[in-house]
Amino acid sequence: MDVSATVQVHVVGHPLVQHKLTLMREAGQSTKSFRQLLNEIGMLLCYEVTRDLPLQMIDIETPVARTQSPVIAGKKLIFAPILRAGAGFLDGMLDLVPSARVAHIGLYRDPETLAAVEYYFKTPQDLAERLVILMDPMLATGNSANAAIKGLKKRGAKEIRFVCLLAAPEGLANVRHENPDVAIWTAAVDERLNEHGYIVPGLGDAGDRMFGTK
Ligand code: URA
Repeated sequence: MDVSATVQVHVVGHPLVQHKLTLMREAGQSTKSFRQLLNEIGMLLCYEVTRDLPLQMIDIETPVARTQSPVIAGKKLIFAPILRAGAGFLDGMLDLVPSARVAHIGLYRDPETLAAVEYYFKTPQDLAERLVILMDPMLATGNSANAAIKGLKKRGAKEIRFVCLLAAPEGLANVRHENPDVAIWTAAVDERLNEHGYIVPGLGDAGDRMFGTK
């Protein structure tokens, strides 16, 4: 399936991202390394997802002369990690954009139905005036992403981008169908989902590997 034809998907092929992702896929990686790598890739993906932010020129004074120089204009950012695993991206992103606001979205997957169940949703008030960067390392069925997007839109969000580490074609198609206005950034599109809803070849359960809970 050529997902790029149906979904606005940006596959981040940067060598640093690809190298770090390969390390993360390896089953023997320690919890500490996995968490560190997720943080680093979060920073690199933040660089990509903000690549087209508008700039405006301002007057400044250097120690040598007055000049005009660009700063970021337009909407300010909200980072919105889907808990738990989305939190793994957050620190890397905040290192690059320290002034961003943060929304926390608590969802878990019902193991039987794979449906997303909401247990927590806390956002800044001014969702409508900001660009929301929604993040979750694994875009598997797409149910969690769609539930999070629905919750954000219900609370006023107008512009949402989704950042993940790995995407399954099924998840991309699902998000495209429900939310064609949400562009997606991912480090890779894997082969498929297995019968338990895991991405193949994937990297296993991102939350468990990040927190050492398995
Ligand atoms: N969530 C994960 O952590 N891993 C998968 O493969 C799918 C969903």
